[in-house]
Amino acid sequence: MLQTSWYKDAVFYQIWPRSFCDGNGDGIGDLWGVLERLDYIASLGVTGIWFSPLYPSPQADFGYDITNYYDINPEYGTLDLFRQVLNGAHERGLRVIMDLVVNHTSDECAWFQESRLSRDNTYADWYIWRDGKTPGAPEAGGTPPNNWDSLFEGGAWEYEPARDQWYLHIFAKKQPDLNMDNPQVRSEVKKIMRFFFFFCVDGFREDVITYISKTPELPDDSPLKPAARGMRYYDHGPRVHEYLREFRNGALSHYDCMTVGEAPMITPQKALEYCAEGPNQELNMVFTFEHMGADCFFTEWIPRPFDLRIYKQALSRWQTGLAKGAWNSLYLENHDHPRIISRYGSEEYRVESGKSLAASYLFLRGTPFVYQGQEIGMTNTRLESVEESADVSTLNQYRRYRYLHIPKGTLMRLVNRATRDHARTPMQWNANQGAGFVGGSGNAEPWFPINPNYTSINVEAAEADPDSLLAFYRKAIALRRKLDVVRNGNYREFKHHSSVLYAYARESERQRLLVVCSFAGKLAYYSASDDYDLRKGELVLANYADAPLQGNAFFLRPYECRVYLWKD
Ligand code: GLC
Ligand code: CA
Repeated sequence: MLQTSWYKDAVFYQIWPRSFCDGNGDGIGDLWGVLERLDYIASLGVTGIWFSPLYPSPQADFGYDITNYYDINPEYGTLDLFRQVLNGAHERGLRVIMDLVVNHTSDECAWFQESRLSRDNTYADWYIWRDGKTPGAPEAGGTPPNNWDSLFEGGAWEYEPARDQWYLHIFAKKQPDLNMDNPQVRSEVKKIMRFFFFFCVDGFREDVITYISKTPELPDDSPLKPAARGMRYYDHGPRVHEYLREFRNGALSHYDCMTVGEAPMITPQKALEYCAEGPNQELNMVFTFEHMGADCFFTEWIPRPFDLRIYKQALSRWQTGLAKGAWNSLYLENHDHPRIISRYGSEEYRVESGKSLAASYLFLRGTPFVYQGQEIGMTNTRLESVEESADVSTLNQYRRYRYLHIPKGTLMRLVNRATRDHARTPMQWNANQGAGFVGGSGNAEPWFPINPNYTSINVEAAEADPDSLLAFYRKAIALRRKLDVVRNGNYREFKHHSSVLYAYARESERQRLLVVCSFAGKLAYYSASDDYDLRKGELVLANYADAPLQGNAFFLRPYECRVYLWKD
């Protein structure tokens, strides 16, 4: 990386294009829609956009299965339109980062189509092919090369008769893993990067990048492991650092760009191996999972109530763990997790808890990401049956649990708790039919049902209300960008045993900021420490109209949050 630091002052907005805004009226979000909404995005005060995949794809995993890395999905637009969006974003001071999905491609990608034909074509070695343990097709008793599980669809291997071999897919069957040990594949990755730098994009979010290097022997995992067998042989695999440095030296370091790598199952210590600033830095940041309830995918499938202490512990561990030497990413929502108000807040106190959640992460050290709809407090939807899900991983989890004879009713409760569909319902722009998401005449059927609460929860209603969550996000983001202490201050946590309050300070020589957030629907009490005299602090952000004090303490109403500033 160039020794660049603009990303440390950035706030990103994530667009999952299929559900953001439909410009041409076919019920599918697209870049025409994005173009119309650039002013809205800029109005949030964010400084960048992360686009989930825009590339051509059969949509088995909604763009995370790419057929052509050098083009735009025709449903979303064209490269020319992308260029317009990019220019429009840059004119408004918004940087743009692309999703880089190179652990795997679509099985419909020309490289794979060729690769599967024979053992000696140009692309023969671009994917991970192996002979079965027992030779032959599965119907004839052939068995896969090892016992690994895929994360999205049964076992990790599929048989290909033309080669009489199996290919590895860590995710769905339609997502064959690339063979990163092949130098041609790595050259292609650098070529993709350069192609988008030529378009002047500002960086990449790198999809499951810690999975790209597999232990070459592909050994069997313990048969006793209940799920995700094989992960220990590809997560943070043997050559991952070598490859990331190659990408840096061969492409990234020639541009003023930033990268954030998705990194399931990672500790702060390990994150430093990727992100520690200095000549060997491989990524600017990683997306971690710990504060989302555990450390990997599917955490929502483990039915546990929200525990504020676990959330706080995770945040604090990462705040202090990276303080010396690496930069944090900050997020509460993305396209892979249910809506945060439904998970960690309260639908009953939707606006209050949405604000408290926003304050709980927007003033931490790191680069915040806000996911589409988070800023207006969109909540989870409801599926009546699993057939209504559009998510390959939900369908897979459902099948697995059915196999364990878990009754359908129980399972549907789990689905409704965990499915990624929640984050993927169309963005709610107004209360009209089609929620303002559907473009043109507005009559097309949206590709996925709109959450019925769009009549009250939508951008237009939020714009009209000065106390809306949207207004709060704008204030909070503006405040964050204005205060040097949020960028550079220390992190200090208070009352870490409390299961209802999250209180933290950011401290520098000249400024101190105290953030106190309630996560309870009942009264809570906070007494500040002596070095934080609330009577002398300036209340810079709050979610109730008044802010009474009792000495150097106060009672917090349901999901109340307050942010105080001291300038010394
Ligand atoms: C990442 C993406 C997720 C996708 C998976 C496989 O986790 O965020 O949406 O399904 O990788 O590409
Ligand atoms: Ca469309």
